[in-house]
Amino acid sequence: MQLPRRRRGGANSAARRSTRALACTAAWTVLLIGTLTACGNDSPSTLSPAGPKSQLIATIWWALFGISVLVSALVIGAMLWAAFFRRGDTKVNQTSGKGIVLTLGAVIPAAILIATFGTSVGGIARNADPPSPTEMTIEITGNRWWWEVRYPEAGVVTANEIHIPVDTPVRLRLETDDVIHSFWVPELMPKQDLLPKRINHVWMSADEPGVYRGQCAEYCGAQHAHMAFHVVAEPSNEFEVWLAEQSEPAEKPDTELEREGLDVLQTSTCGTCHTVRGTSADGELGPDLTHVGSRSWLAAGAIPNDFGHMSGWVANSQTVKPGNLMPPQQLSPEELRAVVTYLQSLE
Ligand code: CUA
Repeated sequence: MQLPRRRRGGANSAARRSTRALACTAAWTVLLIGTLTACGNDSPSTLSPAGPKSQLIATIWWALFGISVLVSALVIGAMLWAAFFRRGDTKVNQTSGKGIVLTLGAVIPAAILIATFGTSVGGIARNADPPSPTEMTIEITGNRWWWEVRYPEAGVVTANEIHIPVDTPVRLRLETDDVIHSFWVPELMPKQDLLPKRINHVWMSADEPGVYRGQCAEYCGAQHAHMAFHVVAEPSNEFEVWLAEQSEPAEKPDTELEREGLDVLQTSTCGTCHTVRGTSADGELGPDLTHVGSRSWLAAGAIPNDFGHMSGWVANSQTVKPGNLMPPQQLSPEELRAVVTYLQSLE
């Protein structure tokens, strides 16, 4: 069988193909950079570190990124040089240059990989070390799909909102009540898994006051994406005031409507699952609501904490987080209005 003859002008069409490939690569690169830069808006990033633990991660990330860019530039440069300046060079000696191939293809890449691996492992080990001294411990328990937060020394129990003093290394004691979760505040600390029947410790501190969003980083069921939390870092005097307020029992109702709300809370099923210290509600299945009105978010960062969102949540939380453990509440509109008014007053 006769093979088809090579078309004439092969070198020209090959050059055109190379130019097209180059233009295509450039277009994709621009598109990719454009897309990736859009990711940064409003989502917490490891590359905006606000504490020493995340600073180390960002430093390693940029070092690895720099090495990757350098290696890619060298490899692509060599390919382009071969494509444009050694075209038609058919007198290549297949046996010469073994030393160069071995050095550039094996020895140098191996050295780079070993160095970057060592840097990464060293960084992980350094981040696992407790900073000394550790000033305070906060106990975090993962639940599907919310976070219980305890300050054991102050007797404070809250949920999904963790207050810390700035510039203070805080030790987090992590456990789970059900499946594996992962606790992660990208701007403040590395990820740490919460494993059944095991207690893990991790350290976190913030350099500046601010609100830092955290997220469960291990798939834990249908509402995994709705398992967020917020870390509020504040000056130590403000933190002490917050902690003292949170350690108090629930405020007494001030108005008739709030009194009705407290009555609804104590006579309906709310208290079977939730605790409001100072009332007869002492359930332990759901978040402690003693100071729920002081929190900025509800349902582990899923909705803002205001009268409207809380009313929708209490009436039928399944429309917000299908599969969560709280069933729809059989309350009249008046009872719903009263109980939400009371809960919003619990600051
Ligand atoms: Cu908890 Cu994902």
